[in-house]
Amino acid sequence: MKKQDVLFNASMHLRLLLRVERTLGIRKAIQAAVKPGAYVLDAGCGSGILSFLALEAGAASVVAVDRDNVDLARALARENGLDRNIRFIETDLNALEPAEIGEKVDTLLAFVYTNHVAVDEARSRTVATLRRRFGAKACRTVPNRVRYWAIACDWPQQDAFTELSDLRRSLQELENRYALKFGPLLEAMTAEILFDRSRPTLYGDYKWLPGGSNGGYRHSRQGGRLLSDRVAVAEFAYDSGGGDERLPEQVTLELRSAGTLTALLWVQELWFDDFLIWSSEVFSPLATPLAVRPGERVEATLDERWRATNIIPVKPVGDAR
Ligand SMILES: C[S@@+](CC[C@H](N)C(=O)[O-])C[C@H]1O[C@@H](n2cnc3c(N)ncnc32)[C@H](O)[C@@H]1O
Repeated sequence: MKKQDVLFNASMHLRLLLRVERTLGIRKAIQAAVKPGAYVLDAGCGSGILSFLALEAGAASVVAVDRDNVDLARALARENGLDRNIRFIETDLNALEPAEIGEKVDTLLAFVYTNHVAVDEARSRTVATLRRRFGAKACRTVPNRVRYWAIACDWPQQDAFTELSDLRRSLQELENRYALKFGPLLEAMTAEILFDRSRPTLYGDYKWLPGGSNGGYRHSRQGGRLLSDRVAVAEFAYDSGGGDERLPEQVTLELRSAGTLTALLWVQELWFDDFLIWSSEVFSPLATPLAVRPGERVEATLDERWRATNIIPVKPVGDAR
């Protein structure tokens, strides 16, 4: 597992279940997507909750796949008398073989996302491939659209420059004391810190729910400011045959407020048709803060370094006017 990936252990699955409004949003989408008698693939089944909801919605049978914790999902199914109609497979979704699935599925449930665009871009490719390989022609995917927005922001917690210069200085001192070189440790810690900071220091510090019936988390605005409107970055739409496109190489943002640009805030939205199931936010910090003023435009580059470290290269590209 790459460091930037989220560890989906038992307590993470409990955390997901605790977001009851998330489950209710997913349930609503599953009820719209699953037709009576359907054959369903639950990709990245986790606790198995989506498989249970699919049976509730009238599915005849479910094949539930995860690379971890399948025993937990199986035990939960058994505990609830739902195990007869669910077949569990413990494997990586990218290694799944047609013989393991059998006939084509009518519904693909794919909640495999970590919420971070840099990690989930590849997960969208996995979902698009699963649908192509295992889905019937009219297969419905839940969610069937993943949409990303970017917002420029001034967020003290996301001051990567200070964090990294402290780290560099400490490691330099250690190099002197040990008479050893610690370059690879610096590199590994940089990626660790920057991905950990993509969510607030207090992981559970998101209390907000948007209006309507969909769930989501948004970080407390205390100490942070938005400096631009949100800009559409990409949409991966599986049921219209797409989902495996690359992200754009650049995103241009126009600043609306003066401040110190320390990070880009990414919004991920998971949709089923016109229903927003769930939305979430994460950050990518800049390596060096940038003083900005209203009307100025900046360009963020979504390159391989950003994918590996979460540090987003951003440069001014002049005035909008
Ligand atoms: C966000 S959790 C969601 C769990 C459950 N579907 C839910 O919505 O509550 C993502 C799950 O997908 C699984 N997953 C992600 N990528 C996978 C892959 N390539 N192969 C198998 N499982 C994967 C993870 O192990 C994890 O259990």
